[in-house]
Amino acid sequence: MDTKMLETMHRRNGTKEFDKNATITQEELEAILNDSITAPSSFNLQHWHFLVFHNDEAKQKLLPVAFGQEKVTDAAATVAILADKEANHNIDAAFGPLVEQEVITKDMMENMRSTINKIYENEKAAHDTALVNAGLVSMQVMLAAEARGYDTLAMGGFSGDKLKEEFNISERYEPIMLISIGKEAWTPTKTPRMGIDQVSTWV
Ligand SMILES: Cc1cc2nc3c(=O)[nH]c(=O)nc-3n(C[C@H](O)[C@H](O)[C@H](O)COP(=O)(O)O)c2cc1C
Repeated sequence: MDTKMLETMHRRNGTKEFDKNATITQEELEAILNDSITAPSSFNLQHWHFLVFHNDEAKQKLLPVAFGQEKVTDAAATVAILADKEANHNIDAAFGPLVEQEVITKDMMENMRSTINKIYENEKAAHDTALVNAGLVSMQVMLAAEARGYDTLAMGGFSGDKLKEEFNISERYEPIMLISIGKEAWTPTKTPRMGIDQVSTWV
């Protein structure tokens, strides 16, 4: 049993207030993102893009977009998770290395391309799958940061439209959440959870 991983999951909580003096290096942020992209994704299309707010100027620009939530200026960094609604454009990146390693043939990749492109003709399906997969990487960002000794907060309280406008994000992407990363100023009481009997049905 991987008790360390379980401890990390149980220790994580949403940070109420970040220590304004805590910092994180670019290398540490990159390491967290590198950990997080081990997340699985449909057809391995990796439906995510990270917009990283690390310096003070970037964080200040983010503040009004996040409806004035000061966590984005107090935290050492904030990562906006963007869901890729056109992840079918990632087919070469996802399958090319497998062709090179002769794990699959080029024909197999082209068959996969036809199948995937057909699915992505349905905009709702493309949108929904982007959200599901970007959600998976989001959780990994939080757990990777926690495992590396940082605290986090996921935030849905921001304007996706303003974020796109202010930071020139193309229509290809849908911002799904902000994740602030830093050090907690104090540890809040653990939030309660419903019982397993309330949230599960055994068929
Ligand atoms: C998608 C998402 C959006 C959230 N948005 C905000 C937010 O805008 N502001 C905030 O202070 N907390 C936000 N939270 C934090 C939740 O309130 C918190 O995760 C929840 O109460 C459970 O507590 P815990 O994270 O300590 O386990 C958000 C959490 C998630 C997962």
